[in-house]
Amino acid sequence: MSANDIGVIGGTGMGRLADMQVTGRRVVPTPFGEPSAPVIRGHFGGREAYFLARHGSGHTIPPHLVNYRANLWALKHLGARRVIAISSVGGISDDLPPGAMAVPDQIIDYTWGRHSTFFDGVEDPVVHVEFTEPYTGSLRVLILQAATGAGLQVRDGGVYAATQGPRLETPAEIERLSRDGCHMVGMTGMPEAVLARELELEYASFAVVINWAAGRGDGDIHGEIERHVADCMDKVRVLLAVLLGG
Ligand code: HPA
Repeated sequence: MSANDIGVIGGTGMGRLADMQVTGRRVVPTPFGEPSAPVIRGHFGGREAYFLARHGSGHTIPPHLVNYRANLWALKHLGARRVIAISSVGGISDDLPPGAMAVPDQIIDYTWGRHSTFFDGVEDPVVHVEFTEPYTGSLRVLILQAATGAGLQVRDGGVYAATQGPRLETPAEIERLSRDGCHMVGMTGMPEAVLARELELEYASFAVVINWAAGRGDGDIHGEIERHVADCMDKVRVLLAVLLGG
C-alpha cells in the first residue's frame, strides 16, 4: 500500500495544517449528506494523503453534530484504505498529563443519539461487525514506529472514553470513567471508529492530551488547553511528516 491511501482526520486545533503542501481540494457529496469540509489532498514533502477537518475548516461543528458517516464515506470514496484519526483528549491516568500522546487500543462508547451505523436499513440483512479490536493493529504499529522515528514518546495502548459533549465532564464522571478502566477521554472517537470498521477501512487513532480531565488538574481546563494545544499540534505535524514522508 502507498501513503496516498491514507486519510487523516484532524481534530481540535487541526482545522488546517499550516505546512502541508496542498495539491487538491474536493467537495464530496455523499448519500449521508455533507462531510465536515472539503477533503484536502496534500503532502509534507513525502507522498500525498487526504486530510479532512473533523470539525470543519473553521472549527464550527461540535462533536455531537459531526457527520461521521459522510466523513468516512467521502474518504473511502476517494480511495483511502487507512484512516488515521487525530484526537485531542483529556488525560485521566497519571501517565497522560497535558502534552502526552497515546495510541489507544480499546474504546468505550458513552455517546448517544449519533448516527452510529451504515447498516440501518430495515430491508437489508442485519450486520454485526466484529469490534474486539476496535483499532487496526498494523496501523497502530505504523503510528508508533513513526512516533519513534520522530523522537516522540508515545504511550502504546490505553482505553479511550468517547463522551457525548460538547460540555466537559464532571470530576465524578471522570472518576467513573477511571473505574471503568479508561485512560483518556475525548468526544469524537465514536462512532468514527465503528463506522470505519463497517466500511472496512483500517483505522487507528493518535491521541494528544491537551488537558487534564476534570478533577485531575488544578481546575483551569481551558487555560491548560490554551497552553498546550499549539505544542500538541506541532507534535502531530512532526509525526505526520515522518509517517507520510519518503
Ligand atoms: N473531555 C472530553 N473531551 C476532551 C477533553 C476532555 O477533557 N479534552 C479534549 N477533548
